[in-house]
Amino acid sequence: MLTIDSAAKSAYLVAALLFILALAGLSKHESAKLGNYFGIAGMGIALAATVVLAADHDIEPSGLGLLLGASVIGAAIGLWRARIVEMTGMPELIALLHSFVGLAAVLVGWNGYLHVEADPAGHEALRLDSAGLLGIHSAEVFIGIFIGAVTFAGSIVANLKLSARIRSSPLMLPGKNLLNIGALVGFVVLTVWFVTAPQLWQLVVVTVLALLLGWHLVASIGGGDMPVVVSMLNSYSGWAAAASGFLLENDLLIITGALVGSSGAYLSYIMCKAMNRSFVSVIAGGFGVEATAAETKDYGEHREINADQVAALLADADSVIVTPGYGMAVAQAQYGVAELTRRLREKGVNARFGIHPVAGRLPGHMNVLLAEARVPYDIVLEMDEINEEFADTSVVLVIGANDTVNPAASEDPASPIAGMPVLTVWEADNVIVFKRSMAPGYAGVQNPLFFRDNSAMLFGDAKDRIEDILRALPV
Ligand code: TAP
Repeated sequence: MLTIDSAAKSAYLVAALLFILALAGLSKHESAKLGNYFGIAGMGIALAATVVLAADHDIEPSGLGLLLGASVIGAAIGLWRARIVEMTGMPELIALLHSFVGLAAVLVGWNGYLHVEADPAGHEALRLDSAGLLGIHSAEVFIGIFIGAVTFAGSIVANLKLSARIRSSPLMLPGKNLLNIGALVGFVVLTVWFVTAPQLWQLVVVTVLALLLGWHLVASIGGGDMPVVVSMLNSYSGWAAAASGFLLENDLLIITGALVGSSGAYLSYIMCKAMNRSFVSVIAGGFGVEATAAETKDYGEHREINADQVAALLADADSVIVTPGYGMAVAQAQYGVAELTRRLREKGVNARFGIHPVAGRLPGHMNVLLAEARVPYDIVLEMDEINEEFADTSVVLVIGANDTVNPAASEDPASPIAGMPVLTVWEADNVIVFKRSMAPGYAGVQNPLFFRDNSAMLFGDAKDRIEDILRALPV
């Protein structure tokens, strides 16, 4: 006979399959929208099944009211935030959402302790059931709280860094690697202790230890490596959810957590490869990275250019490459840029785009903006494809990009972004840099490109300057 319990478990299975379909859909541009719909359907089914299951388990009416009230308030806040968030604000919002998963895991863990280890009845129930069960429960509580608190604190720091409310440069405490290793060893010792003799103070200590570790891990990562940190926290939040799933005996949470945890870890790995960073070093809070001295180099004078002069250069060009960055997103200049490349192509100029894997503030940021402005996919090339083309290019338009076109990454081993692959724009005949000032990019590193003989700065908001060029460009 079909009980509510088995119906809810079947619904969980359907939801889990929908989540897998969502991930598959999100892996491609064309199917991303469908992937989102699968995700929404899966989450809707999961929420409904959870409420029905709770109602069936003799939950008190006040508890059910709380559950429904919290769902409605959460959904309203989620809808409101999703509607108003700017594309450029997505990474910090995602970091904040990861912090909620971490916090939930901590609360679930504490709740588990209060209901079992700290409650003689719960204690006895588990001990009588089977000798090993209490120990397993204690390990789940402890590990869940640890992963959750690391995720929570790390995500809050990531949110503050990404929203520029704290400096994005890496924190370099003396002996920072030893501090991280010490915290991990402390965690292992405390876990063994808690499993053999659970006491409240151990839980308090591990919560504080994990919060400090999470804060330190992310604070130690420099601005340029933040993309990897965000996907790494995504992964941690998945493992935190899976840990809660074990504690709550909820299969869907375990499956979903494992999906998020492993896909986040894989994304971090791909990003590390693209940025020539060591995966282990980044997940260990910049392990092995030594502090670099503050930059005092004098690169000489920069040259300025105006929109009319750029229009004249473009009118004479055979080939043009646009390398957009975060500033194009801030200025919302993609529509003007798309119009400019369309007009150049109509005049027979080979105008294309070169996209760096971490340009902007989230994976695929530039591709999404260009797709929004209806730029044909075939003229949007990845870094590896476009890098060999710069030497044969008349003009490169660097629109609001900075770290992703910084020659110091390949030429200065002491630079904080040393080793990160960049777009080799300086190989072109002329490089025009659109930005509002001489301020450094996200990684806080000065860019010697701006001082090269073949570079010129076009100051001002990128959208305004593009419109000036469009007006000045001969028809
Ligand atoms: P950034 O290095 O962030 O530089 C953006 C530049 O745009 C700034 O130098 C800024 O200069 C300029 N800008 C800002 N607003 C502008 C406007 N309205 N008009 C014209 N210019 C404007 O950009 P990037 O080259 O795209 O590099 C991305 C950085 O973010 C990398 O360090 C990357 O690691 C990091 N990051 C990436 C991600 C992902 S996944 N993509 C996530 C987090 C962090 P002014 O202020 O002088 O105008």
